[in-house]
Amino acid sequence: LTIVTKIGARRGADGSWIPAFSREELTEAVHDNLRNLGLDVLDVVNLRIMFDVHGPAEGSIEAPLTVLADLQRQGLVRHVGLSNATSKQITEGRGITEIVCVQNQYNLAHRADDALIDDLARDGIAYVPFFPLGGFSPLQSSTLSDVAARLNATPMQVALAWLLRRAENILLIPGTSSLGHLRENLAAAGLALPDEALEQLDGVAGSAA
Ligand SMILES: NC(=O)c1ccc[n+]([C@@H]2O[C@H](COP(=O)([O-])OP(=O)(O)OC[C@H]3O[C@@H](n4cnc5c(N)ncnc54)[C@H](OP(=O)(O)O)[C@@H]3O)[C@@H](O)[C@H]2O)c1
Repeated sequence: LTIVTKIGARRGADGSWIPAFSREELTEAVHDNLRNLGLDVLDVVNLRIMFDVHGPAEGSIEAPLTVLADLQRQGLVRHVGLSNATSKQITEGRGITEIVCVQNQYNLAHRADDALIDDLARDGIAYVPFFPLGGFSPLQSSTLSDVAARLNATPMQVALAWLLRRAENILLIPGTSSLGHLRENLAAAGLALPDEALEQLDGVAGSAA
């Protein structure tokens, strides 16, 4: 089991996300993670970039990432990742410490990171799509449903299988509160997508736009 945590934000009393990027806040977040998980060292910590809460936005990450790299040198963190990151920020980050993974929003219908995924794959960096099933707005598409019916699978299984086929550096983190869905999601790894299904699914993002 490889546990990956994420720091850089805290919740306001109203449920909002507030940047927590100071040296003190980042250091406290790593210590909180260690204590809560009962660990001496965290496998991977993602820095969640917060220039815009809703999506990647440009801005230098040198100051917060340097703090995380210091904690890594102290032996509290093995590997570092970035979340909600632009390509420029990933390049900047790689000049500060090794970046092993990037966690951004991406799924069958939301493909802004297509080029980034291919760049990261070339450099052996994992890409972890968040909201792989659409998050708060579950993926819905007649193409997805048609392909799923043909393959005797569920639409969500097809959406996950498509992500796994999309690139070799994709790691999946679908969220679920249901054991049945967890089993279905794990089984998606064994679902073979024929080429014509892939071609149809590739058209989903274009038709949704
Ligand atoms: N880095 C970031 O900024 C960021 C932002 C958002 C999310 N994340 C992370 O990304 C991961 C995934 O996010 P998420 O859980 O919000 O979105 P998601 O995986 O796209 O979707 C989860 C939703 O899909 C449903 N679902 C799961 N499996 C299903 C299945 N087999 N059939 C039908 N419905 C299914 C779940 O409902 P049930 O509970 O009923 O299964 C839940 O409503 C989480 O680890 C989350 O923490 C990261």
